[in-house]
This record gives sequence, structure tokens and C-alpha cells, in this order.
Amino acid sequence: MLIETLPEVPSSKIQVESINFREIKPALTLLIPTKNESGNIELLLSRISQAVGAIQTEVVFVDDSSDNTPEIIRETADRYCSIDIRLLHRQPEERLGGLGGAVLAGMRVARAPFVCVMDGDLQHPPELIPEMFALADGQPVDLVIASRRKSESNTSGLNTLRTVISRGLDLIARMIFLRELHGVSDPLTGFFLVRLDAIDLERFHPQGFKILLETIIRNPRLRKVELAFHFGSRNAGKSKASSREAYEYVSLLLSLRFGTRGLHFIEFAIVGASGILVNTFALAFATEVLKIYYLISVALATVISSTWNFFLTEGWVFSFGKVRSGRWKRFVLFFVMNNLALLVRGPIIYVLTSLAGMYYLISNLISLGIMTVLRYLLADTWIWSRKQSVQPLNRE
Ligand code: GDD
Ligand code: MN
Repeated sequence: MLIETLPEVPSSKIQVESINFREIKPALTLLIPTKNESGNIELLLSRISQAVGAIQTEVVFVDDSSDNTPEIIRETADRYCSIDIRLLHRQPEERLGGLGGAVLAGMRVARAPFVCVMDGDLQHPPELIPEMFALADGQPVDLVIASRRKSESNTSGLNTLRTVISRGLDLIARMIFLRELHGVSDPLTGFFLVRLDAIDLERFHPQGFKILLETIIRNPRLRKVELAFHFGSRNAGKSKASSREAYEYVSLLLSLRFGTRGLHFIEFAIVGASGILVNTFALAFATEVLKIYYLISVALATVISSTWNFFLTEGWVFSFGKVRSGRWKRFVLFFVMNNLALLVRGPIIYVLTSLAGMYYLISNLISLGIMTVLRYLLADTWIWSRKQSVQPLNRE
């Protein structure tokens, strides 16, 4: 058994275990993300070993399971010595980006020039692999997409609800990336083969299931071909799709369109808007019900809405996977920032209300609006300043 250590996540070490290892350099890396797929490994490996035939293949499992999938992989691998089998088991704190993050992690350790990404539940037939490989190997093709959306395709594995959802998600992607997705019938399929040196892994910020979409958008020059396939039913176990994935998807689309910074700004603005409601309510309550002088109420309301905004910002906007240390330090910084902002807002509100005769709740809103952009820039660069979460890595 060979163990390599990868500096993938700075704060931890992900290990790749080579269970079956041969010196021959593989022509194809079959990358299979798994999460609790213990009931599928056996059949999967058996069908893969039959299907790949003479193609020198390594299988890389990137596993985020809490069941005994890794043990089953180790046990079963012994029976398939003609393929290299490697396992990258990620600890819970290493599971950045979910399924997409697993695929990126696998691509970083792939040893072959081509990577074929495939689900581990046999909804993607391994028998299609040779055809996909032949379409790219030695051909002017960088990306082979196994499509569920061609006229010859069959999607018996999708029930009516999943079909509707899937069509809807597809439509949203097309509305945002009309040009980029032209000629691509199924940008959301999980079954594809890509030439590794045609894509830039450093550009990826995977989030959830739709790693192919990200591959296409971030690498617009890829020469693509598609082939139809039969998306069958899952063999054993349960689907990991959830409403959380829908959220990850929207968020991926926004960050692909506007950049991660743009996405954070949109989220920050949403938190800000909710904070403004809280702030206005607290201000009205303190002034009208508790009869506190309105400028003192402004300060009180700021304390309340800052706390509200902090926890939402911390838990949502800047909730990327790094270890969350220093929370109290960030809280104090955030608090100080909002109260310093008060030094600017106070005079604005005073001028608008007591000198210009504007209603105090309105002047409060104007002052908050003025400060939002400034606060975002401060929060982004100062409080939640971000080290690169994924370090570059040499593949060999
Ligand atoms: N490592 C890892 N981490 N693997 C995961 C994770 C994760 O967080 N979530 C899911 N997987 C693995 C599963 O174990 C399975 O092998 C594969 O990814 C697909 O997951 P499913 O749970 O079977 O997804 P699905 O069938 O609902 O969705 C499939 O079809 C979608 C299109 O309808 C996937 O191929 C999606 O990528 C695809 O978009
Ligand atoms: Mn599935």
C-alpha cells in the first residue's frame, strides 16, 4: 500500500491510498465521487473492469462517506488487479465543495491525461466509457458529455418531479449563460470525460453537484462533443440530492456570473437589507415605545442590528469551509466597524432630521444605505479576509 500526502487543504492533510498500484501510467482516470455507496462498489468495479477492456485505467474514488464504503472499496479492489484503484477519503472537515469539491480533489491527483467523471450508483453505465474515451483520445476533442437530453437518450432514472426540477435548473442556466451553453444539450449531467491539460483547475471554486457546468463556463474554449446515454435507476442506496443542492446551484450560477466577490456582495446586501428591517424596527420601538431620544435609539438599534448582521454574515455569506477560529475577534471587529460607521451616520441623521426636517426613520435608512457599500468592502478585506482555501498542487 502506498500513501501519498497532499497539501490540498492547508490546515489538514488528505491522504491518497493506492490500493492496487502498478507502475504503468494509466491512459484514463475514472473519477468516482462516493458518499455512502457501500452497496454499489462491488457491482460497479465488476462492470468497470469488464467495460474498460484494454484501456489502461485507474479508478480514483473520492469518498466522503460516513458508512463503510472505504472498507468495501479496499476489500473489493483486490479482485480487480488489472486496474489501479486509489482511494481518497476526505475527513468531514476536508469536504469542501461537496460533490464538486470531491471531483476537483480527484482531478488534482489523477495520473492519466483524461479524466472520466462518473456517479458511483450505476446510473451512469460503465459500458459507455470506451466510446467516450475513443471520442477524445487522439482526437481534437477536450470534453465528451454523456447527455440525458438528446433524442436518443433515455432518462428512466428520473421520476416526473426530478425531470421537472432538472428541466427548470437547465433553463435557468441557459438564461444566464445563453451563449456559453449553445450546442450543449445537458450541461448538468454528472457523466463526462475531460482532457486534463485543457482545463485550468486553479480557476475552479466548486460548489455542489454541477461541476460540469463550472467546467464549461470556466473553460470556454473546450472542444466539446456529446453522446446520448441511458440514465438508469440507482442500483442501491439513496440519492444525495436535496434542497440544499438547489441553493448551492443558484449560488454557483451567481458566482460563475458575477465572481465569488460579486456573489458575496449580493448575499451581504441581502443580509444588510434584513438588518435594516431589524434596525428600523428597533429604532421605532426604542423611540416610540421606550421614549428614548432618537439619536440614542439610533445607537441602540445599531447594537441590535450589528449582532443580527454578524451572525448571518458569519454563518452564511462568509461561511466557506475554513476552520472557524477567531469568531469573537471577528465579532469585535464587526462591532467596532458598525459603531465607527455610527460616527459617520450620526451626523448625517442629525442633519437630515433636525436640520432638514426629514422623518427620523427615513434619515436613518438613508444613512444605512450610504454605509452599505463601504461596510461590505471593509468586511470583505478586513474581517473575513480570505486566504486561498485550496492550494495549487503538482499532480505527480
Ligand atoms: N465525495 C462525494 N461527496 N460524493 C458525493 C457527494 C459528496 O458530497 N454527494 C453525492 N456524491 C456522490 C454519490 O455517492 C454518487 O456516487 C454521485 O455523487 C451522484 O450522487 P447521487 O446522490 O446519486 O445524485 P443524483 O443521482 O441525485 O444526481 C445525479 O444526476 C444529476 C442530474 O440529474 C448526479 O450525476 C448529478 O451530478 C447530476 O447533476
Ligand atoms: Mn444517482
